[in-house]
Amino acid sequence: MTSPTPVSQDSAKHELGAERSVYFRIKRCDGPGKATRWERFKVKVTRGEGANVLACLERIAANPVTADGAKTTPVVWDAGCLEEVCGACTMNVNGKVRQACSCLIDTCAPNDGDEVVLEPMQKFPIVRDLWVDRSRMFETLKRVKAWTPIDGLYATGPGPKETPERQQERYIYSTCMTCGCCLEACPQFQQEPDASKWDTSFVGANAIGQVQLFNEHPTAKELAPERLDAMTAAGGVSECGNAQNCVKVCPKEIPLTDAIAAVGRAATIHGIKRFFQGK
Ligand code: SF4
Ligand code: SF4
Ligand code: FES
Repeated sequence: MTSPTPVSQDSAKHELGAERSVYFRIKRCDGPGKATRWERFKVKVTRGEGANVLACLERIAANPVTADGAKTTPVVWDAGCLEEVCGACTMNVNGKVRQACSCLIDTCAPNDGDEVVLEPMQKFPIVRDLWVDRSRMFETLKRVKAWTPIDGLYATGPGPKETPERQQERYIYSTCMTCGCCLEACPQFQQEPDASKWDTSFVGANAIGQVQLFNEHPTAKELAPERLDAMTAAGGVSECGNAQNCVKVCPKEIPLTDAIAAVGRAATIHGIKRFFQGK
């Protein structure tokens, strides 16, 4: 009779249900203009429980004590949907911008004692710790008129017909959650603390994707000339340097470089038309 193979401590920690420790090194800041500091926390996770980064932040908030045993304040972060739809929890995890809610610990820190580094996005003003203010993105959506003009006091009847194939082509752009990953990765998009300059600063890839979405929409294309005015003005599509970082980091795999190319072509034609119209 053969004796059972001894289970090493290491392999036991890789079994489903095994408890292990993960360290979090977190870049902290008490508010706008305040100094930053790093703090390290130890969090217990159970393999296979499906814990994500946000679940671990909740455990830290429930017991805000550093790995060295020093009492501190709970780490602050933003979140909403908890299912990669709202974009609120976007942060840099181990140097890569992504949503904390869909970042599973068993994947990003698979071994006992692994460390996860959390930093806020750098291209947006800090609110506190991992929470940033993404207002500029929403202001930019207003600047490019990213909506369908259907408001009215009376029924306007059915909209124009289109094929399911055309709808499907546009659909991917509608999955944008204004998370900011594409802007965090873009060398052309810089933090602009002065809100009065947002109207002339580079709009960024997500807004260009929304211009493509709405300019291709049978009803929303009514505002296409105004959107293209924004695209040909300061901060428009011509400021894209084509580094293509945006498309690599978009969690929704939106074909941002296709949108940039299509909107760039449309903006050029629009600019020539405006020239001959003397506008
Ligand atoms: S392709 Fe344009 S928008 Fe995308 S990262 Fe590069 S410069 Fe930014
Ligand atoms: S285009 Fe992608 S990366 Fe950019 S805001 Fe939308 S979902 Fe996020
Ligand atoms: S909480 Fe909404 S995307 Fe993470």
